[in-house]
Amino acid sequence: MTKITHAVIPVAGFGTRMLPLSKSVPKELLPLGNRPAIHYVVEEAIAAGIKHIVLVGHAQKSAIENYFDTNAELDHQLRQKGKDALADSLNWLPEDVTVSMIRQGKALGLGHAVLAARPIIGNHDFAVLLPDVVLDPFTTDSHSDNLAFMIKQFTNDGHSQILVDKVADEDVHKYGIAKLSEGNDTSIKNDNSKVSENVSFKVAGFIEKPSLDKTPSRLAVVGRYVFSNQIFGYLANTTASVGGEIQLTDAIDALISQYGVNVTTMRGDSYDAGDMNSYMQAFIYFAQQQLTDN
Ligand code: G1P
Repeated sequence: MTKITHAVIPVAGFGTRMLPLSKSVPKELLPLGNRPAIHYVVEEAIAAGIKHIVLVGHAQKSAIENYFDTNAELDHQLRQKGKDALADSLNWLPEDVTVSMIRQGKALGLGHAVLAARPIIGNHDFAVLLPDVVLDPFTTDSHSDNLAFMIKQFTNDGHSQILVDKVADEDVHKYGIAKLSEGNDTSIKNDNSKVSENVSFKVAGFIEKPSLDKTPSRLAVVGRYVFSNQIFGYLANTTASVGGEIQLTDAIDALISQYGVNVTTMRGDSYDAGDMNSYMQAFIYFAQQQLTDN
């Protein structure tokens, strides 16, 4: 089994739930405390061992690519003024990590966005991180640990891994929801309380954004995946479904029927930076953690 060193971060969404903030600034660059939201997601990937990050975007998202590149003119100006420490802090990306961007072309859905990264990912197995979801970077037991755990599981048994977390009844319709197998622990299946450890088990399938009366469980897809390269073959054959979009969950269901896929329950907390109310709550939490006295 190959080591996971590649990750795809889809950044092509227009962020309609974040208007007017996202009208001229990509939603991924909106601040959470003193960093743009995507900064934490890229840090999480790097801490879990990722070396090549592929952003999938479009023309209005090039500011994200610029954020991860050196601004030579600014660097020069800062150093001329003796602000070397500040200049150094902007070049935080490790030397052995690359961030590149590819364009999605048409906005045909999340599955289509992931498939657009295929020319760069090539034959590698890879992770996917959805940037709307930011895992709490201030607690020791979450941030990169979940992804690192999933990568370790994948490396051990070759099964693609999908991070899930319990959601409240009123939020079920916003997520892909896991259909559990007969053998799955009934407390994980029926209980509404959070599973606070990383537990990995086989999943029977997923339903994208079900209504509460049709939901097969409360375990929602959080937005962290580790895929075997075979997912590309299924994505290439996936047609539009829920919301008229090519859904990643449909390709995952096809992968399940052939090879089996595991879910991993999430440790720690996640924040939704793609929805205005959750974003504002997340901003307050991040700012409170980072506020200093001076
Ligand atoms: C996407 C996925 C969904 C997942 C969610 C997590 O939906 O399709 O399965 O639960 O991200 O944020 P979106 O929020 O892009 O509509």
